Amino acid sequence: MGKVIAVANQKGGVGKTTTSVNLSASLAAAEQPTLLIDIDPQANASNGLGIKTRELDKTIYEVLVGNLAVEDAVLTSEMPFLDVLPSHINLVGAEIEIVDVKNRERLLAERINTVRHKYKYIIIDCPPSLGLLTLNALTAADSILVPVQCEYYALEGLGQLLNTISIVRKHLNPKLEIEGILLTMYDNRLRLSNQVVQEVTRHLGEKVCKTIIGRNVRLAEAPSHGKPVLLYDAISMGAKHYLDLAQEILQRDQNRTSTHASIEPAISAVTNATAAVAAGVAPPPNVNNGTNNATNAVVAGA
Ligand SMILES: Nc1ncnc2c1ncn2[C@@H]1O[C@H](COP(=O)(O)OP(=O)(O)O)[C@@H](O)[C@H]1O
Ligand SMILES: [Mg+2]
Repeated sequence: MGKVIAVANQKGGVGKTTTSVNLSASLAAAEQPTLLIDIDPQANASNGLGIKTRELDKTIYEVLVGNLAVEDAVLTSEMPFLDVLPSHINLVGAEIEIVDVKNRERLLAERINTVRHKYKYIIIDCPPSLGLLTLNALTAADSILVPVQCEYYALEGLGQLLNTISIVRKHLNPKLEIEGILLTMYDNRLRLSNQVVQEVTRHLGEKVCKTIIGRNVRLAEAPSHGKPVLLYDAISMGAKHYLDLAQEILQRDQNRTSTHASIEPAISAVTNATAAVAAGVAPPPNVNNGTNNATNAVVAGA
């Protein structure tokens, strides 16, 4: 059964979409069958993977509001192990349209049950609010990953989010765990960034991911090319940091589950890819071909 991770924070611009897209791509590069669900009406994650959502009539909207099966809305991507359930601007009205539906917070959880066995990871990119769409994601999720931008008001709103998590645990989803607080857009030239890291670590301790995502222009450029950063610039720091995050999550899951053997090749694949990126060379052949070809092309200067 796939593990469902909701990437959520009611603040906009903290790196939710960048994290959802690039964590999904990095898990897929480790040959983990991964589904990225875009539940933000802005559809930034879908668009960032080159999907023109306005032209689609089978999206998360029809899945939640209509009766469309998830399988019928899922699209494949450029990466062999990555599928996408795209969003649509129509989703703006969904919160109102489903307000009278019985168990309206559980719609997503129920709908994705039919595909959970197909994936190792299901990553949900949430909108910047704590409304019904985010509640659906938190009810469907095994864990929540919270991107926090390394800026002055980093911790603002986090109390409200933690409060929402405890309400969800109490009434909707007792098994919801905190995957981690992920520090994003870290700039080691800025004293402020370092202060934020210290401050967040002091308050949240072990809940903070070991991986810190640096500020990297390639991460901001990749979506306009319709690609995750691994396919846009595989040897960038952005690609390395998201491979590191995938490795951290894979390793933690390995320590938790008894199926050690099955996840080990994935960890070594992502470890090798991370090392290769750090060394400025293409990942080895045990990272899937889609990534490898793209990486080779980038390395060759194509
Ligand atoms: N690590 C990073 N380095 C540089 N730019 C980033 C980074 N993470 C996100 N961005 C940029 O910051 C903006 C907000 O990020 P995004 O992922 O869309 O946040 P959210 O989904 O929380 O609103 C986007 O323009 C994105 O490209
Ligand atoms: Mg977003």
